[in-house]
Amino acid sequence: MIKVITFENEEKLDQFVANAIMQVVHEKAHPVIGFATGSTPQGTYEQLIKAYQNKEVDFTHTTAFNLDEYVGMNNDHPCSFAKAMRDTLFDHINISTNQIHALQGDAIDMNEECKKYDEAIAKEPIDIQLLGIGMDGHIAYNEPGTSFESTTHVVDLHPESIQSSLNYGFDRIEDVPRRGVSQGIQTIMMAKQLIMIAKGSKKAELVKRMLEGSVDEQFPSSIIQRHENVLVVLDVEAAKLLQEGTYEKR
Ligand code: F6R
Repeated sequence: MIKVITFENEEKLDQFVANAIMQVVHEKAHPVIGFATGSTPQGTYEQLIKAYQNKEVDFTHTTAFNLDEYVGMNNDHPCSFAKAMRDTLFDHINISTNQIHALQGDAIDMNEECKKYDEAIAKEPIDIQLLGIGMDGHIAYNEPGTSFESTTHVVDLHPESIQSSLNYGFDRIEDVPRRGVSQGIQTIMMAKQLIMIAKGSKKAELVKRMLEGSVDEQFPSSIIQRHENVLVVLDVEAAKLLQEGTYEKR
């Protein structure tokens, strides 16, 4: 089932998603959260850090899985997603380092790396997976045409994804790696709950197609329509093309 909620106030949106994560962290003995990088969840991470500083949440027993990474990139590279997650969240909360799982983009054997990642997720199934939607409709780095059966795999990045990477610290488009490694669609769909966040009018067409269009491998994020527990959290701009009455307003 998909529940769509729109927010007029961005901080309330971020707080709402942070609360959903904190609830699972409070309730479960060993909570497992899947984190996304990119610009969209940054406000949520700020709220989680604030809550941690106010002693409202304890991440001691939390396990984290990152969604994706650039191939060929060491996890300490300033533009790696692993570093971005440390800088924007993990280094500011009390999650233990050995419970943070990140794909190694510079592993010698990438197939083995992908296999190991899927095995680790199978051992500790993800309670909440945060997602954003890419400008080509991707989730994680599952680009248009990716099989819905895919597990963690290496991908050729779509030109839109390469372009969007300029928002993530690269100075020049030539510096952006051409390949990524990503949790697969099937991997993502195994999470118990998906929380998809989208903000801004540039996402409005994409959000409409994701929620109201056909479920189609050419538009990977449409797969979320088939998940039994999905929360889609949107700002007013991202929701502006959705049919009235199909979502809750806050
Ligand atoms: C990031 C990821 C991507 C982003 C998506 C949206 O780990 O997997 O799918 O969620 O590209 O990116 P932003 O939030 O920068 O618009």
